[in-house]
Amino acid sequence: MKKILFVSSEAHPLIKTGGLADVAGSLPKALIELGQDIRLLIPYYQDLKTTEHIQYRCTIRINNCDVSLLETQLPNSNVTVWMVDYPLFFAISGNPYSDEYGQSRHNNAARFHLFCKVAVEIAMNRTYLDWKPDIVHCNDWQTGLIPALLTLEPHRPKSVFTIHNLAYQGLFPQAEYHNLNLPKQLWHADGLEFFDMLSFIKGGLVYADQITTVSPTYALEIQTTQFGYGLEGLLHHRQASLSGIINGIDTHVWNPNHDPCITQNYGIETLDKKILNKTALQQRLSLPVEANIPIFGIISRLVEQKGIDLILNCLDEMLNMPIQFVLLGSGNNEFEHRLQNLAHLYPQKISVTLAYDETLAHQIEAGVDIFLMPSRFEPCGLNQLYSQRYGTIPVVRTTGGLADTIVDTLPKSIADNTATGIAFHESSSGALIEAIKRAIVLFNHPTTWRNIQQNCMQKDFSWRNSAEQYLNIYNDMTY
Ligand code: ADP
Ligand code: GLC
Repeated sequence: MKKILFVSSEAHPLIKTGGLADVAGSLPKALIELGQDIRLLIPYYQDLKTTEHIQYRCTIRINNCDVSLLETQLPNSNVTVWMVDYPLFFAISGNPYSDEYGQSRHNNAARFHLFCKVAVEIAMNRTYLDWKPDIVHCNDWQTGLIPALLTLEPHRPKSVFTIHNLAYQGLFPQAEYHNLNLPKQLWHADGLEFFDMLSFIKGGLVYADQITTVSPTYALEIQTTQFGYGLEGLLHHRQASLSGIINGIDTHVWNPNHDPCITQNYGIETLDKKILNKTALQQRLSLPVEANIPIFGIISRLVEQKGIDLILNCLDEMLNMPIQFVLLGSGNNEFEHRLQNLAHLYPQKISVTLAYDETLAHQIEAGVDIFLMPSRFEPCGLNQLYSQRYGTIPVVRTTGGLADTIVDTLPKSIADNTATGIAFHESSSGALIEAIKRAIVLFNHPTTWRNIQQNCMQKDFSWRNSAEQYLNIYNDMTY
């Protein structure tokens, strides 16, 4: 049994902005099921949602600040969560990383530096928690300083750094380096410096004992100039310690048989009932109730990564087709504005909800026929996995985890029952619209459509297999 400190800046259902939270809220459970001793460490944000009791554990002194450590359970699990309580940094409402104008919070470097220092103190068993991990598993830039700082400690635990998205790097002006009083020996081009900036993510990429990312294809892509943001050389240099492990999903939270958020539960044997969720969704969103018109859905952060502009450029042409379009998301102001305008112009065809709404997200997965993910890059992507489980056919661009989890519908994959979606290659509106047309044609062939839905619903996206791969990495590092 390994002792693992799993460090993340978000974890579902406590606090979530995207897929990182889904992973941090479900992988630790799967590791416990494999017999491991795991503690999850997150910041104690004001908006954190829990039904569980919160208990004070101890106070530690870091950078002349008194920081409290609180303990709770991850709801519906036996995962122990430790929370870093420092109100000046974390007792703020809203998005954990950005303010109400979408700008990064001005003190993010100091906030996540403190978070990393606390993780190091726990990792070195210098708190009153009296627990020393064998492995510290860090996730994304907010935890990047941990592997770097740990290398300065004798008898340290091993570190794993998982890249969920290389586009977010935690880059700050050099002056922050001095403000934070970071050790001088880590400031160099092969350390935390990145073109005269302080790079949190380089702390993970340079110093972690093992690096993982969330799909095998993305592990290769980030070693190229197209996807590497200037870090491709470093990642290539570390390729012997870099692997891609596809994310699993929480099969209890995302299960059409028992999902409490949807109107009608259904499964592979009762797929005919899915239509009742389509009707309920059309009613909820004030769209005409039409069974035979395919509904396309999107649930997404509205950022360039997700190809939202490709969709916007397609919508005019899509409006000439017999379809409905449902979007739930928030993010970039210009995307929000353009989407809202289109929804006002075409209320019979387009519904746009600019919000973060978990219940509606489940209702969309259950109610739409086709899910669109035309991402420019996608380290893993979770919605194409949720869609498959709900018998909703994904249309995806072949990149990262989308390429690894969707089998395009072609004569051969129809014949051997492996088809699970529609895939297109080129990152352009033209290629997207062709894929959308293919989806409409298939939708109008009910027998083939039903087969593809069943292929999707039969796939196993549970964490077990991937959690075992993480465990193999932990075991190889510590024997
Ligand atoms: P990313 O982490 O890049 O945003 P993923 O596909 O890995 O992309 O995960 C996104 C997660 O966030 C999914 O669980 C998705 O359902 C959820 N999500 C994104 N936007 C919203 C929203 N506006 N309301 C509810 N859930 C959302
Ligand atoms: C990131 C990626 C997404 C991935 C998620 C969880 O936010 O953008 O593709 O699924 O992390 O690993």
